[in-house]
Amino acid sequence: MEEYTQKAIETAKGAGNILLEGFGSSFKITNKEGKNNLVTEYDNRSEEFIIENLKKHFPEFSFLAEESGLSLNNGQKNGYFWVIDPLDGTVNYAHNLPIFSVSIALVKNREILCGVIYNPILDELFYAENGKGAYLNASKLIVSKCDKLDNSFLVTGFPYNIDSNPGHCVDQFVQMLKRGIPVRRLGSAALDLAYVAAGRFDGFWEINLNPWDVAAGVLLVLEAGGKVTQYNNAPYWITDNNILATNGLIHEELSQTLNSCYLEINNGI
Ligand code: IPD
Ligand code: CA
Ligand code: CA
Repeated sequence: MEEYTQKAIETAKGAGNILLEGFGSSFKITNKEGKNNLVTEYDNRSEEFIIENLKKHFPEFSFLAEESGLSLNNGQKNGYFWVIDPLDGTVNYAHNLPIFSVSIALVKNREILCGVIYNPILDELFYAENGKGAYLNASKLIVSKCDKLDNSFLVTGFPYNIDSNPGHCVDQFVQMLKRGIPVRRLGSAALDLAYVAAGRFDGFWEINLNPWDVAAGVLLVLEAGGKVTQYNNAPYWITDNNILATNGLIHEELSQTLNSCYLEINNGI
């Protein structure tokens, strides 16, 4: 394993332990931009720990982290970026719902070199290295084998501006439910992607995510044999506006369904 992956794992576990210490306690919660977009003092504590720890080992790498934004270290711009979500699932965390994670990825030149997602509640560590497979603790991950959308088990999420139905995300969700397909909404996009990699879900889609929500999870899905594109099957990068991640087998069908919903509504059908 590369040193950067080892350090990302150590760091994600350390941050997860900080989140566990705070979980259920009476911590400070404030509102960020957008309705119901919360931030707790533990988002910040976790992020400070992650950045400090990674900086110690890789002083020349830059950061893109949810709470503190972009920091180009020493202005060196050598192309390495740690992409960090210190607490994915903040709304769950703020309501004492034990579904949240820490997500850390290392990115260089539009390539994700490693991705780590840690769920401290279940002590589940998901990690992947480019070209070397995806793992949950010591076990190799492989995506599910379901090959029909109607038999699939899916997960999605909604952006904080869901009240304006961006990209018809509400209609897409309703359409899946009307087909009788079980769809979950867990509230942590990083875990959603890790669970697609682990074969727990057959597919995931969401609009308006940020690079820190998805960077580690995208590599996990790809390394577990899955497929990641935009809704319309176009190539995906972590700055794109919508993401579709599946086991590969239901990809076309799910892509068509998401797109057809969008087209139907725009044609007024
Ligand atoms: C959120 C979670 C959620 C997704 C939201 C994200 P946060 O991240 O990943 O599942 O639906 O769009 O913003 O705010 O908990 O880090
Ligand atoms: Ca997030
Ligand atoms: Ca977050």
